[in-house]
Amino acid sequence: MKQLLDLLSEEMGKAFEAAGYAPELGRVTVSNRPDLCEYQCNGAMAGAKQYHKAPMIIAAEAAEKLAGNAVFTEVCAAAPGFLNLKLSEAYVRDYLNEMRTAEKFGYEPVGSVKRIVIDYGGPNVAKPLHVGHLRSAVIGESIKRICRYAGHEVIGDIHMGDWGLQMGLIIYELSLRKPELPYFDENYTGEYPKEAPFTIFELEEIYPTASAKSKEDAGYKEKAMEATQKLQSGVRGYRALWKHILDISKADLKKNYDELDVSFDLWKGESDVHELIPVMVEEMKRGGYAYLSDGALVVDVKEETDTKEVPPCILLKSDGAALYNTTDLATIKDRMAQYEPDMIIYLTDKRQDLYFEQVFRCARKTGLVKPETELVHISFGTVNGSDGKPFKTREGGVMRLETLIHEIKEEMFRKIMEGHAETEEEARATADIVGLSAIKYGDLSNQASKDYIFDVDRFTSFEGDTGPYILYTIVRIKSILTKYLESGKSLSGAKLLEAKSASEKALMLQLTGFNAMLESAVEELAPHRVCAYIYDLSNAFNRFYHETKILTEPDAETQAGWIALIMLTKDVLETCIDLLGFSAPERM
Ligand code: ARG
Repeated sequence: MKQLLDLLSEEMGKAFEAAGYAPELGRVTVSNRPDLCEYQCNGAMAGAKQYHKAPMIIAAEAAEKLAGNAVFTEVCAAAPGFLNLKLSEAYVRDYLNEMRTAEKFGYEPVGSVKRIVIDYGGPNVAKPLHVGHLRSAVIGESIKRICRYAGHEVIGDIHMGDWGLQMGLIIYELSLRKPELPYFDENYTGEYPKEAPFTIFELEEIYPTASAKSKEDAGYKEKAMEATQKLQSGVRGYRALWKHILDISKADLKKNYDELDVSFDLWKGESDVHELIPVMVEEMKRGGYAYLSDGALVVDVKEETDTKEVPPCILLKSDGAALYNTTDLATIKDRMAQYEPDMIIYLTDKRQDLYFEQVFRCARKTGLVKPETELVHISFGTVNGSDGKPFKTREGGVMRLETLIHEIKEEMFRKIMEGHAETEEEARATADIVGLSAIKYGDLSNQASKDYIFDVDRFTSFEGDTGPYILYTIVRIKSILTKYLESGKSLSGAKLLEAKSASEKALMLQLTGFNAMLESAVEELAPHRVCAYIYDLSNAFNRFYHETKILTEPDAETQAGWIALIMLTKDVLETCIDLLGFSAPERM
């Protein structure tokens, strides 16, 4: 289906043309003075210069051509040359009736289908997820869903940190604690135990302990680096231990991501491209891109137009060790070979802006990607506490993601129990669903690049620009529909009618914007567009709801028309929250 604004612009364009002006001047936009009109066209002002005429005259001439038109009920030239527009109720009704039966509400993707790899989550094995991992998961998941809805082929990859020094640290610390384990016996040739010699809780204690020791004790660090080296070069026992760490950690990560309703198609990690590094480095040397500088192998990525210093990409340190960016480059090579993506999207916080600039430049320069391959870094701001500083626990430590989710769900539970006489069990289940909306909406409603304050009280509120408010609106509609059905009436066959009140029309106009909203959300990879839209839509619905006695309406046809309208509202809202990565309960 064509977007409403495009249809209106076409209509207006014809009027401009009939009056002797360029049709392009007829571009119609949503009114920025909703007190005066619903839509507007500023073309007469743009045309004034071109045609050496007063804008008011051009506007009046175009308006005249629209007299008796079926699309607009009001076309009014206003000083200094605006065209103020109101739509015909019948036209809006027809548009929405088409929208409700069309696939995806008539949304038509623009451009060709792309294959997109999204790199999000980025957890580090054996380390618990903390608040810093929240945004990558939540925004990445939503962008994945938005791109899929738009018809693209999307592959989500978790890209675990599973290969670096943290592995060596754990293995070395374990060798001190349990030297009797067969993994450390070089002469051992038998099968290694299937059971890991540690639990996730031990792992989560071992890592920070080892990491702290290595910072104080150079000898300890040396040993950990040695262990890393042994692991990477393939020492059998170390590989077997590493596999245990990976399995245990992955199961725990999966549990955490499941709780957030975040999922990945690929559970690849840094280790998966380890073997590609020597080949890639060789190619970069042969291509004349990589050269030795102070013993390190580097690729220059600075450009003439740079206004700030962009340091070279270091591929190998002087001791031959690969770095974070070496792995990212090898991962690009792997992704190109395996999936031939048209686009790779990364989600990390904005402290990695320069880093990804370097990696992308290096990948382009060395031909790891095609010239037309799009490399996109969506960098996000920090999650702050109420003091405006990065979110911390009360004791000042790093906040575990689990704890944060738990806190929100508890607060949600408290609020739900306060409101209704539900059973505790029911309230718990509802609190889990609504709590997730509070976290995700609280994050996604901000433009990704901005920092935001994690405000448990505000996020869990049933009023205002929050997830629970949106869900409350959906639940309210569900309850009307249930009561309607209980009165013995049927939902099928109901069609929207012409709006009878201002609030009904406002709701209808808001619904027509779905298409355009989605297009910009896809284009800008911006979930906050979806949030802004459903907040306005929920407000429009609630205003209509408060003014309209739907269930006691005596005229059956009028009532059925309203039922069709609120069904469409519910369907659009539910589609949108699914794009954001959460769902609505039956009751709350
Ligand atoms: N594991 C990294 C971290 O915790 C994030 C990985 C981001 N993705 C990437 N391809 N570099 O900081």
